[in-house]
Amino acid sequence: MRRHSGFLVPGLAAFACLVATAPLRGQVRVASPDGRSQVTVEIREGRLTYSVARDGRALILPSLLGFEFRGAPPLRDGLRISDTTRQSHDEWWTQPWGEVARVHDHHNELAVSVEETAPPRRRFTVRVRVFDDGVGFRYELPEQAGLGAFEISEELTEFSFADNPRTWWIPSDRPRMDRSEMLYSEGPLSLLQRVQTPLTMESRDGRTFMVIHEANLADYARMNLRGSCIECRVLRADLAPMGDGIKVRGQTPFVTPWRTIQLADHVTELAPSLLGLNLNPPNALASTDWIHPMKYVGIWWGMHIGAMTWSSGPKHGATTANVKRYIDFAAANGFGGVLVEGWNVGWDGDWIANRNAFSFTQAYPDYDLAEVARYAKSKGVRLIVHNETSGGIQNYERQMDSAFALYHSLGLDAIKSGYVTDLTSEGHSHYSQFMVQHYRRVIEAAARDDIMLDVHEPMHDTGERRTFPNMMSREGARGQEYNAWSGDGGNPPEHETILFFTRLLDGPMDFTPGIFDLFERSSGHARRPEEPRVRTTLAKQLALYVVIYSPVQMAADLPENYAGQPAFQFIRDVAVDWDTTRVIAGKIGDYVVVARRERGGQTWFLGAITDEEPRTFDVPLSFLTPGRHYLAEIYADGPNANWLDNPLPVTITRRPVTSLSRLHLVLAPGGGQAIRIRPAR
Ligand code: NOJ
Ligand code: CA
Repeated sequence: MRRHSGFLVPGLAAFACLVATAPLRGQVRVASPDGRSQVTVEIREGRLTYSVARDGRALILPSLLGFEFRGAPPLRDGLRISDTTRQSHDEWWTQPWGEVARVHDHHNELAVSVEETAPPRRRFTVRVRVFDDGVGFRYELPEQAGLGAFEISEELTEFSFADNPRTWWIPSDRPRMDRSEMLYSEGPLSLLQRVQTPLTMESRDGRTFMVIHEANLADYARMNLRGSCIECRVLRADLAPMGDGIKVRGQTPFVTPWRTIQLADHVTELAPSLLGLNLNPPNALASTDWIHPMKYVGIWWGMHIGAMTWSSGPKHGATTANVKRYIDFAAANGFGGVLVEGWNVGWDGDWIANRNAFSFTQAYPDYDLAEVARYAKSKGVRLIVHNETSGGIQNYERQMDSAFALYHSLGLDAIKSGYVTDLTSEGHSHYSQFMVQHYRRVIEAAARDDIMLDVHEPMHDTGERRTFPNMMSREGARGQEYNAWSGDGGNPPEHETILFFTRLLDGPMDFTPGIFDLFERSSGHARRPEEPRVRTTLAKQLALYVVIYSPVQMAADLPENYAGQPAFQFIRDVAVDWDTTRVIAGKIGDYVVVARRERGGQTWFLGAITDEEPRTFDVPLSFLTPGRHYLAEIYADGPNANWLDNPLPVTITRRPVTSLSRLHLVLAPGGGQAIRIRPAR
């Protein structure tokens, strides 16, 4: 029988207290609980603006708020403040899984209601929440006579910077923009044209890091950012359009997503980023017992390197026999899942052009879905069902309910979906309101059938996992797959050291680490630097399991490439769910050192990665419990290792450590180090 988890209606926030209603003025302020950050909302020449200061220093200068509509005058001019309310909130909540178990939601809130002074006297509210780690604000459009159904042609929200910070960015207006799969550039804010969020920046004096993003994108267009003039320091919200150019269709009462500005004094304080989670509604699922973080293997890398095909034929990867081999491998190594791509009818020919031909229930004749599901279950492993849509949204939605019911009936509880497309089959931007609604419908439909999701070519993460903890992981950046392909240049050694402080601040990423076939072993010769290949050492592939957070983490290589490899033990051992995360060192584009303690245990894992430069780190283990004895199992770059022509050597050593010990980490060019620190018996 099909089980429906059902959704809970979130109750009133715990510990919220109404503090005061301020007297009406043209300017109102709210500060963070620690008093350091301050947001001012004010009317300037009839327009509503906000500004942000930290320690008395302006970060965001008065910046415009408002909307333009199709078929109605802009909601921007002739405004006055009609009401203000304040609240504060202090609560700890627990994540079912995550980078940290417990999250502190401590903020002060100011809601400023404004109305037009002349007819039609339209009204809206800007709700601001100020936390110690940043600011969120959103628009609320109440039901009213002068504003019912509307079409937003432009959101006027600006971010006017006092400084000209350094930024790390990917464009939002390039071909294939809709996949976010680009390398990052670095440069001053004043030169930005159209870029994606999260947008990470560092003030010129290095004293403040800021990240612009959004939270709880539920029924709106995705926000990109656009430089509003050449050589100035103003970015404006740049919403992804639907096919007819409209950004958002809605009806009052209506709330927008939160616009977020994360703040930190040091780059290492940016992660884990919890601001966006605090701005999403609490868990809506009646039960989360069925949700389980896991490691997985799969019929995947073989297709990307050309050894197998998604389509039918002699190299078809998803055959019953081949998948059983992967199931055996997963069971033997304690992995929870086996991803199977290319199992379903629709991959023959041009699977992007023929996107409406994908079936999500009918398997190729050489793949017996029911038998494979039975076999997996008998081995204590689950299949991860692959649903590539290629952006054929209606084709997918037509089949979704029956497909999910079929998977559920076979005991399958995870889907990896895919959206390889620029425009959907309906002609909408991949990041339009149409797609936001689609991705939400999929999350809710999957939750009804107890199915976890790992979405490739996703909407960017705006903290949905708090409300729907079955929304596990996504891609949404250049992953490992780029290292398999020729013609694209692959990912340079610095790539993951930038990802950590940019894309990974919005949420987990299914990067698919663990490629051991780095160099000459399969091709029999030393690959030239421009040939498709992974540009890391083997030890760095291990470190990525700790550095890149994902509750579903793939051991991406072919099982045969792990045979006889002592370093594979680290992938078997590493945890995927964490109580605590500490970023020990980091510099955007250069290096990251992270320590995480496994959920519900005392074992720590440490991952360190570098770009093309060799580096050393002296890491005090003061995060360990004082007085306790531990054993550190260290997987380090071996003698003369480097990513370019000697990536394979890994030295594995063990040594006893305590909280008073220091570890000296030596990383090769393009290298890394992975350490498991477990209580000594
Ligand atoms: C792109 C995804 O990122 C990749 O993981 C998948 O194998 C292909 N699309 C096919 O769906
Ligand atoms: Ca992809």
